[in-house]
Amino acid sequence: MKVNRPQQESIGAEILDFDVKLTTPEQAIAIKELVYQHKLVIFRNQSLEEKQYLEFSHKIGTPQIYPQDNYHHPEHPEIFVSSNVLRDGEKFGVRATGRYWHTDCAFLDEPLPFTMLYPIIIPKSNRETYYLDMQKVYQKLPDHLRMYVEGKYLKHEAKWRYKVQEWDIDKAIIDIIQDFEEKFPAVQHPAIIVHPVTQEKILYMSSGFTTGIVGLDYETNQKVLQELLSFTERDEHIYKHEWEDGDVLLWENRTLNHKASIPVLSEESLNYRIGVYDGLPFYVSSASSDNSAAVEKVLAESVSK
Ligand SMILES: [Fe+2]
Repeated sequence: MKVNRPQQESIGAEILDFDVKLTTPEQAIAIKELVYQHKLVIFRNQSLEEKQYLEFSHKIGTPQIYPQDNYHHPEHPEIFVSSNVLRDGEKFGVRATGRYWHTDCAFLDEPLPFTMLYPIIIPKSNRETYYLDMQKVYQKLPDHLRMYVEGKYLKHEAKWRYKVQEWDIDKAIIDIIQDFEEKFPAVQHPAIIVHPVTQEKILYMSSGFTTGIVGLDYETNQKVLQELLSFTERDEHIYKHEWEDGDVLLWENRTLNHKASIPVLSEESLNYRIGVYDGLPFYVSSASSDNSAAVEKVLAESVSK
């Protein structure tokens, strides 16, 4: 497997001349290791039927079925559809997803380790996805900000990002939010997570889903979160991927925040996302945790698939 990198200083590896349909179990392991090492892997010139895309995701891990079924592809619920086009005259997936900094499913107790994205229709303009390297952000975090997150837990919730659906008509906003909150209550994760494979420390927060530092009062939270996020979202931490037809991207949500660009209203857009569990805990609790046995077990299971 030929690999070209770096795309940018700390993230991104492009796998050259590779057809994901033909991925062997050994190559699947190598791909996962590239994801752990470079955070984002790019495959060019792919041509996949929906079933073939799904088969590739099974080689990498266990595809997620997203907990809100209005995002599901009608025939393949593992495919999360972000789209502003109709299919057979019917609404197809959800439009305008992920246009804010986030990591997928940070608002769940067990967030999503990997995201795979395969655009079917790429808009002509504004065809980028942006990434933030949160491992690098942690390394560069100034002491006066680090002291607010070291050893702390952060609160994450999705209720402010809920997209109103047909069945919400005639409901009060407060009832819509409360109904959603019952299904997806706020969760807490360590502010600094430790990667289960690389043992690197990562600042795990985003302006999309992180709503507070546990233990701080409201005013301090507002001030500190703003400062942390302003530092995090600096241009120097951002990598931009400009999509080309046939691109498949696979990235890690432990280490990267991402956001979609905002397409021009008149331009069509259709993306197939598959979330993948890699069989490892999303994070381990401290840098000294010996997780090597679990990592070896998961990699060995991939070979025997
Ligand atoms: Fe996302």
